[in-house]
Amino acid sequence: MKTEEKINFGHKDLLGIENLTPGEIMQLLDAAVAFKGVLTRDVKKVPTLRGRTVVNLFYENSTRTRTSFELAARRLSAEVLNFDVATSSVKKGEVLYDTVETIEALGADYIVLRNGNSGSPHFLARSVKASVINAGDGLHEHPTQALLDAFTIRESLGDLKGLHVALIGDILHSRVARSNIFLLTKLGVKVTLIGPPTLVPDDFRPLGVRICHTLREGLRDVDVIYLLRIQMERQQTNLFPSLEEYRTLYGINTERLKWAKPDAIVMHPGPVNLGVEISRDVMTMPQAKILQQVTNGVAVRMAVFYLLQGVREQNAKIART
Ligand code: NCD
Repeated sequence: MKTEEKINFGHKDLLGIENLTPGEIMQLLDAAVAFKGVLTRDVKKVPTLRGRTVVNLFYENSTRTRTSFELAARRLSAEVLNFDVATSSVKKGEVLYDTVETIEALGADYIVLRNGNSGSPHFLARSVKASVINAGDGLHEHPTQALLDAFTIRESLGDLKGLHVALIGDILHSRVARSNIFLLTKLGVKVTLIGPPTLVPDDFRPLGVRICHTLREGLRDVDVIYLLRIQMERQQTNLFPSLEEYRTLYGINTERLKWAKPDAIVMHPGPVNLGVEISRDVMTMPQAKILQQVTNGVAVRMAVFYLLQGVREQNAKIART
């Protein structure tokens, strides 16, 4: 693929799903199909980002997301720098903006940011020339996760429009849930949120979703069962009695799988609390697409870099004329 191709994607940064149009989302998903093809080839590398530098700046622990971004950038021939916050001056009290200014002075073209403060990538994007990609900001958004989820659903079940997805669990503390709700509702997918009222409050209703507090009722006619981890580290107070109680009421096992449509698929962004939101036997069933999600993450992140690079090149051309 060549970046000279006509690109309608209109953003310098990828900050969230909320500000994307359905057309832009489809363009990202379609580009990811081509990159998935690249990843199955013998030589899995293309020159799209040759000579560019990608900096991974992660303020929260992450294995799969950081590795996935790193691999995506390397497959596009970029130089990748992992900025280890634990050993950096951040520990000495340097603030986010100064850290990023330093990174930019070193010549970064892309900054992939994971930070506990909602809105931090938006703040940065306004003040740096580099393209900022949000890899999770507090409880707000995690756009590349929602894109790779949509890609996986489309790959497994075909066209998204008209499908019914249930998001189950800790919706309140989940940036993954928020990005998925924005994306799925924009593309005409019916969304049901399932969980206890403390984790699935009525405040979500204006986003165009159905809310259900019982698993059996919520799973009726569902094509995709999307499980979320209980985010113990993000809970300020105890919002439910125990993990055991959660498993009893909302855990997915082979019996409960039957409450959804017969060919329903099971997804999870990871990390999984095995035996809490999902039983071990469901994890290994062919309907479980959890590893496929991880594989697709690389192709989808390549597509994100590719479209942003197209915008950067167009902007540079306009600046020259
Ligand atoms: C998610 C995250 O960090 O928001 N995980 C991920 O990106 N793989 C979900 C989670 O932490 O449970």
